[in-house]
Amino acid sequence: MPELHQSIAQHYHDRTKYDPQTLATKTHQIDWAKQPVPFKEYKIGTNIDLKPYLEQPSATIKNNPQSQWWSRLSQLLFHSYGLTARMPSMGSAVYLRSAPSAGGLYPAELYIVSRGTPLLPPGLYNYQCRTHSLVYYWESDVWPSLQAATFWHPSLENTQLAIITTGIFYRSAWRYEDRAYRRILLDTGHLLGNIQLAANISDYRSHLIAGFVDEAINDLLYIDPENEGATAIITLADLLDVRQNLPLKPAALPSTTETTYPFIPDGQLLKYFHKNTQIAPTTNVNWNLLQVEPTVGLSDKYNFPFCDKISTKTKPINWGENLSELSNTIYKRRSTRAYSGENLTFAELKALLDFTYQPQNYIDQNLDPHPDYLDLNLIETFIAVSGVEGLDSGCYYYAPNAQELRQIRFKNFRRELHFLCLGQELGRDAAVVLFHTADLKTAIAKYGDRVYRYLHLDAGILGQRLNLAAIRMNLGVSGIGGFFDDQVNEVLGIPIDEAVLYITTLGRPR
Ligand SMILES: Cc1cc2nc3c(=O)[nH]c(=O)nc-3n(C[C@H](O)[C@H](O)[C@H](O)COP(=O)(O)O)c2cc1C
Repeated sequence: MPELHQSIAQHYHDRTKYDPQTLATKTHQIDWAKQPVPFKEYKIGTNIDLKPYLEQPSATIKNNPQSQWWSRLSQLLFHSYGLTARMPSMGSAVYLRSAPSAGGLYPAELYIVSRGTPLLPPGLYNYQCRTHSLVYYWESDVWPSLQAATFWHPSLENTQLAIITTGIFYRSAWRYEDRAYRRILLDTGHLLGNIQLAANISDYRSHLIAGFVDEAINDLLYIDPENEGATAIITLADLLDVRQNLPLKPAALPSTTETTYPFIPDGQLLKYFHKNTQIAPTTNVNWNLLQVEPTVGLSDKYNFPFCDKISTKTKPINWGENLSELSNTIYKRRSTRAYSGENLTFAELKALLDFTYQPQNYIDQNLDPHPDYLDLNLIETFIAVSGVEGLDSGCYYYAPNAQELRQIRFKNFRRELHFLCLGQELGRDAAVVLFHTADLKTAIAKYGDRVYRYLHLDAGILGQRLNLAAIRMNLGVSGIGGFFDDQVNEVLGIPIDEAVLYITTLGRPR
């Protein structure tokens, strides 16, 4: 008999919290015999090798429009999700990718949909990062179905290529059980952050869509919805074609809020939640009436009386001629495994915040000044400072519009941060530990239960910008997806309604 509860998004969040009282008793044994393989194989399909276009000398590419087209696509995919390192591990090798992934499990898959370009016939392609190639596995025009599944999103009108990201649930659930859903979405957010930035290098503008009919997209891709689900669509507008210079439209659409659901056993919550945050195909969407909400020029959410306010305005990071340093940074990005405990300078912290939250300052470097998010107005940033020269240790609220830090609590939290990050030394030794949060109640009231996807995707996009800014400045950085949820608020003084979505640690690598 179904019962009336809190919404399924709130229920999922509460049920997947880590808590010091229960975590010890709940530790789950990882079954190494059932370790998932992080690559998808196709028995049939035509292989298109993209490696030659990474290796060709630039003069050859410049002089040949076909090579140039392939080179742009090849680079975009490599920057987004290509294999960038090989780690020896117990005999077999583990491959790391340009986007980070919780536990190195890489649940995200990446597909290309072509409307039919002179070089890429219409149909479906899976990106095979192991060989940096595409498998052309469905040869027919699915573009109209893609448009219908997005309620005819205007970004698909004049464009010819789209990327779809999916998550293969078991790859992450094998280790993280039901809480894996949070990490699948955060991982995907990092991947979207890479795609958005890499698009600038390849003269594309990426348009994000996360409000779509799941069933229609899953059917379109021929994926088994029990094991894999679509998470985002990214339209690629070709900036070399004026017709593809498109108006911006919202990426998020509301779903219902479900408060009537049966008892869901452990181990089934992830899939149940994903399935029950769909948008009904009958939803009426009028794009003419929908506008992207501004994020700048608004007042910041928290303004604590009598708190210290410190401006973070600064000079932007230099990404090199033709964004060459952005490309290098994406290639060499790695998650730092240990920090030295040394301080950052305040100038470094300001630059990290500037690149992450002030994209309008990068228009001169040919970077998109308004990259798409699902709804950044729902996300807040809190920063625990343990070692920044010229800045008191403590917890601060970052006000993105005023571009300032507002201090909440004075204290060096190193010992507490160690505990809050489940005893991970990264939390203790980092100079800065940054928290992305959201008021779930407000978010659910605005978008229904599907907002849980949107919040984690956005937190991942921000996380990827922090990652790349840090690597560019030779700093260390690592995401942290495991933390004691409620204790973070209690210890650091973060308002109780703010649910912690994700943590990024920053510091000097050891
Ligand atoms: C969402 C997310 C959560 C993560 N959580 C942790 C964590 O709790 N502890 C940790 O040491 N690393 C964490 N990482 C870093 C991953 O372990 C790392 O990305 C992965 O091993 C691949 O290595 P690379 O980032 O150097 O390519 C996280 C990464 C992501 C994207």
